[in-house]
Amino acid sequence: MEKKKYHIVTYGCQMNVHESEKLAGIMQQLGYEETDETEKADAILFNTCCIRENAEERAYGNIGALKNLKREKKDLIIAVGGCMTQQSGAAEKLKKTFPFVDIVFGTHNLEDFKRLFEKKLSTKKSVLEIQAREGSVKEGTPKYRTSYPNAWVNIMYGCNNFCTYCIVPYVRGRERSRKVEDIVEECRELIAQGYKEITLLGQNVNSYGNDFEEGVNFAKLIATIAALDGKFRLRFMTNHPKDLSREVAYAIKENPKICRAVHLPVQSGSNRILKAMNRRYTREDYLEKLAFLKEIVPNCAVTTDVMVGFPTETEEDFNDTYDLMKTARFHGAFTFIYSPRSGTMAANLDGQIPEEVSKARISKLIDLQNGINREISEEYITKTVEVLTEGYDEKKKMYFGREEFGKMIYFASDKDVFGEFVNVKITKANGISLIGTTEN
Ligand code: 5AD
Ligand code: SF4
Repeated sequence: MEKKKYHIVTYGCQMNVHESEKLAGIMQQLGYEETDETEKADAILFNTCCIRENAEERAYGNIGALKNLKREKKDLIIAVGGCMTQQSGAAEKLKKTFPFVDIVFGTHNLEDFKRLFEKKLSTKKSVLEIQAREGSVKEGTPKYRTSYPNAWVNIMYGCNNFCTYCIVPYVRGRERSRKVEDIVEECRELIAQGYKEITLLGQNVNSYGNDFEEGVNFAKLIATIAALDGKFRLRFMTNHPKDLSREVAYAIKENPKICRAVHLPVQSGSNRILKAMNRRYTREDYLEKLAFLKEIVPNCAVTTDVMVGFPTETEEDFNDTYDLMKTARFHGAFTFIYSPRSGTMAANLDGQIPEEVSKARISKLIDLQNGINREISEEYITKTVEVLTEGYDEKKKMYFGREEFGKMIYFASDKDVFGEFVNVKITKANGISLIGTTEN
């Protein structure tokens, strides 16, 4: 008999991408198989994000678009979960707007999805279950990984920082770390299965282990994982600048398996705005962290997140951000327009910035960063870098993958090198991506 099929739609960050792998693991356990095509699916799962308004709008639009499909296909099961539904009152609103949705669940009961799905199947009634508070860390959820040769590994959940613009602490709860043994065992198994890159995930990886007794911290964790046998790369995200320590920098320096690449979101270059954001560092602190990081780990590539249009941001504040981006010369930057999130402190502040102003500011930052990206790309030409091959681009007829610092490299090869490390000599820079030829 043909297996039933599931289709998962994911919004938002890598954390969500990995959580969708857990939902997929549960669906596989239930005997379903994956399909890319919505029309062929017997179950469609939405893993939503609410970090900015546009992510929410897209999810609302896509869920709404299923109304007719559901009318034609009565047995289709539609489930909506993730950060959006975990906001207070959001699940009820969603069910009211889209009565045809069968299951609504939150971030705190994702691991419980199997039971919710079975409940729907047995009762034939819609299921709405949101667990109000985070529970303790749950181990053993099956995972159906979709990002080979990279594997995502959670090291902690939640966030204690309450940056005033951010909804994450409200929808993901307080920080909870996974045990060192559980993380290391998962990494060991992944390497044995042939994964070549492990990316550790946490909202603020530097505070890993703060909820344990003395002796456990992020620097020790990455050194322990890097000491595992086998050839693999270790990456992690996200580092909060206020907690980045010299010990972490030394762990990177001393363990060649740890990529010299740190994602260190700055958000703003203005001390007044940083304070209003509750980031708990100044521009000077940030630059000092960058300086010691680069001193201890020469060539370390730093990427960032930056935001414009935070309430009350003046032209002068913005110029401070622009200037910091110029000074820091980031290896890459994600730029965002501030989006008010109901329930956060900043949403109630006076002085919201008109959209045209924010758009003009973000486009200046994008132009600046594009220029820096181009310059950095040019610096790669004639160099040989080790690329971990992630896939094959049918249009370009080239393989692609990333080098240690995260740049995307395209190259041709006669051999099937998917999932392998390949030395590539860079011949051409093309925007942010690079083109090269293989040497082996
Ligand atoms: N508006 C715009 N950007 C936001 N981010 C987080 N919250 C908001 C918001 N309300 C950005 C931050 C963070 C990244 C993941 O998303 O820059 O680092
Ligand atoms: Fe949000 Fe700040 Fe926590 Fe990052 S550190 S998830 S921006 S509250």
